[in-house]
Amino acid sequence: MNATIVVLGGDGIGPEVTREAVRVLQAVADAFGHEFHFVEHLIGGCAIDAHGTALPDETLAACQQADAVLLGAVGGPKWDDPTAPVRPEQGLLGLRKALGLFANLRPVTLFPALVDASPLKRHIVEGVNLVVVRELTGGIYFGPRQEPTDGTAYDTMLYTGPEVARVVRLAGEIARRRRRRVTSVDKANVLASSRLWRHVVTHIMAEEFPDVQLEHLLVDAAAMHLLRRPADFDVIVTGNMFGDILTDEAAMLAGSLGMLPSASLGESGPGLYEPVHGSAPDIAGQGIANPIGAILSAALLLRYSLNLEQEARCVEEAVRQALAQGLRTADIARPNETPVATEVLGTQVADLVPSSIAKVDQ
Ligand code: IPM
Ligand code: MN
Repeated sequence: MNATIVVLGGDGIGPEVTREAVRVLQAVADAFGHEFHFVEHLIGGCAIDAHGTALPDETLAACQQADAVLLGAVGGPKWDDPTAPVRPEQGLLGLRKALGLFANLRPVTLFPALVDASPLKRHIVEGVNLVVVRELTGGIYFGPRQEPTDGTAYDTMLYTGPEVARVVRLAGEIARRRRRRVTSVDKANVLASSRLWRHVVTHIMAEEFPDVQLEHLLVDAAAMHLLRRPADFDVIVTGNMFGDILTDEAAMLAGSLGMLPSASLGESGPGLYEPVHGSAPDIAGQGIANPIGAILSAALLLRYSLNLEQEARCVEEAVRQALAQGLRTADIARPNETPVATEVLGTQVADLVPSSIAKVDQ
């Protein structure tokens, strides 16, 4: 297969981790006889520095023409001035909106080798295997807002029925390929937009997914249950901001925020694949960041945008093996383990790709 993949390294550790994801994708191309064309563009703070905007026209145009987009992270202290009219995050939010990426899939799985990397007790985290489906182009991120003027500011959590329905349908379809359980998270005891959310979820699930079990949780309770009984969850569907917050929390179930990948999908067109973590300016440039979130995002890219399921599994298997061999970046290393550099872990995963083929073949 021939595919064009736009690579947006972005800021901080973004370029360091995407480099490893590209290395692994290249290993997949070599092992399976595909041709992937990687095209680099600017987004976020680095784009502001070069072009005065976080999402240059040429970046967006390249993404629109690509088969898929691989992104690192955006933002950093350099661009953190709250009064600045342009912010790095506008690049990412603008890209999600422009590509119509209404659903953000954030799988949370605990690799057996990392059971003791989680700060939570083994019996709590063992068996964790859930996916958060986060609504990505609506809600409080995109509703009417007023920047602070005269001591007042507001953001609006706005949802329409169709916006809720399409993301819930996707969650229902994903649940059908898993354990057939959907947990919808909202704040319906307080927020009107959540009452709409709950009404639409109940209706769609009853009408279209009677074979899928549905539960509703308020977001505060969901935050607690995620730590108390994480292995019970299968598919969690929620709005933009709740999904943002709960997935950082859920990352600790997998051992580190550096482990989590994501796939952002729309009705059609290219998907966007990025680790859940941010630009981590405190460790940028040191070559110690965990590349696994980015590498597993590349696996999702293979699965969802290129329809290469076997290749995606190979990457996941290669990650599993590298971890089983004891390779750890600093964020997942225990005190008695010597951490390896970003590039060492990335190279090892890439090297393990060819031999993983036989393992996923059965
Ligand atoms: C994420 C990030 C972004 C978000 C920021 C950088 C805009 O935190 O992808 O989770 O809030 O969506
Ligand atoms: Mn986030």
